[in-house]
Amino acid sequence: MGLLDGKTAIVTGAARGIGKAIALKFASEGANIAFTDLVIDENAKNTEKEIEAFGVKAKGYASNAANFEDTANVVAQIVKDFGRVDILVNNAGITRDGLMMRMSEQQWDMVINVNLKSAFNFIHAITPVMMKQKTGSIINMASVVGVSGNAGQCNYSASKAGMIGLAKSIAKELGSRGVRANAIAPGFIITDMTAALTEEVRAEWAKQIPLRRGGTPDDVANVATFLASDLSSYVTGQVIHCCGGMNM
Ligand SMILES: NC(=O)c1ccc[n+]([C@@H]2O[C@H](COP(=O)([O-])OP(=O)(O)OC[C@H]3O[C@@H](n4cnc5c(N)ncnc54)[C@H](O)[C@@H]3O)[C@@H](O)[C@H]2O)c1
Repeated sequence: MGLLDGKTAIVTGAARGIGKAIALKFASEGANIAFTDLVIDENAKNTEKEIEAFGVKAKGYASNAANFEDTANVVAQIVKDFGRVDILVNNAGITRDGLMMRMSEQQWDMVINVNLKSAFNFIHAITPVMMKQKTGSIINMASVVGVSGNAGQCNYSASKAGMIGLAKSIAKELGSRGVRANAIAPGFIITDMTAALTEEVRAEWAKQIPLRRGGTPDDVANVATFLASDLSSYVTGQVIHCCGGMNM
């Protein structure tokens, strides 16, 4: 018996990194997985196969989460293919860092659109489906910097703070319909997104983390599994920090 037996999940931006770890963990708990990414290339096809190895249904969809129409179409297709959607993880995200003085309008717009508008797009499309089912769990991938702020990341921090406000508002709007919405605030997680950082920067980060290590995608996937499952049936509108104690 898996924690997510019989449930269907959408995970955005899941060809790699945290999204992929979430998709695999959900599948290991019995969920069918529809995942999206910008392109479904060889890498994403392998992710599909790895998910299927758990004996569940899996399909990758190429879609730009920042695009409203694209998202409405892909959600309609997923509902057609899978019949229902119990879990939505808004995970797709990017960084385009820079100090405010040097940040371009394009850097700002890209990060807000991919990190925050994408979640609006998916929640907008999935709301009627979950309301009709009278059940659903929505998980927004935020970040510790959405709570604390971070110099050089005003666009990213604002988008992640937005993910928290969005989750709380949806929790209030849809709670009476049996739909929960929460956010996860990861700290420093070792993925391609953070791979570009130098050894010195990593060592500096580690010093600020009480557990003295960077997190793994699986650390975040475990929290997502709790929020997706009925173990969190009385948890909504919350932000769960998954950061080794970096932010308290
Ligand atoms: N890695 C960290 O330390 C960390 C910390 C806090 C929060 N997060 C958040 O976790 C999420 C996943 O991060 P990650 O480290 O796995 O990143 P990653 O770069 O490894 O993976 C992100 C995935 O999203 C996809 N993606 C990007 N733009 C997209 C779009 N417009 N439409 C659909 N898919 C798109 C990418 O192709 C990629 O597969 C992001 O929202 C990120 O902001 C990461």
